[in-house]
Amino acid sequence: ARVVVLVSGAGTNLQALLDASRGSAYGCEVVAVGSDRPGVHGLERAESAGIPTFVESLRDHPHRESWDAALAKAVAAYEPDLVVLAGFMRLTGRAFLAAHGGRTVNTHPALSPSFPGMHGPRDALAYGVRVTGATLFIVDEGVDTGPIVAQVAVPVEFDDDEATLHERIKVAERAMLVDTVGRMAREGYVIDNRLVRFAT
Ligand code: GRF
Repeated sequence: ARVVVLVSGAGTNLQALLDASRGSAYGCEVVAVGSDRPGVHGLERAESAGIPTFVESLRDHPHRESWDAALAKAVAAYEPDLVVLAGFMRLTGRAFLAAHGGRTVNTHPALSPSFPGMHGPRDALAYGVRVTGATLFIVDEGVDTGPIVAQVAVPVEFDDDEATLHERIKVAERAMLVDTVGRMAREGYVIDNRLVRFAT
């Protein structure tokens, strides 16, 4: 399967996908990496792996809709079977969903439907939950609301701060992302109302 990955930052999830896709049995080829920010480490990881990159910055557009349409078009140029938002910190919009809906997944560092939004680990700590985790979901028009493909649970330790908790989550999140995206590519999947089932 052809996979386009979108990043906004460090790109450790991207790196895990790049490492996994080196083996042909994995079933995915990362064909391009895009970002909404120039100069992020995720783009450097792609360049080091010899993968084409592109940047669509919101500030180069008069409004969000034209940014979203340009992003959708840039992604479409690579004819992806799957689009993976891996630490992509912006909400995609209507044009993006019209072009890539149903084959775009995002990863969120909390157990949905708890703690949606930008601060999953911080909000889980503030609430005092003893277990949190990560969620891979099909992107829809909401914030971290789409049909869930996979989840992994991660314990909260009493001496955690936001950074230590997020780091523990990210270890589990990367493994889940690699496993699940590989399965989606190799087996196919159907979205049945809110349930995502693998086709085999
Ligand atoms: C991940 O935890 C992702 O879920 C969150 O930001 C982190 C991105 O990490 N939204 P990286 O850029 O893949 O290292």
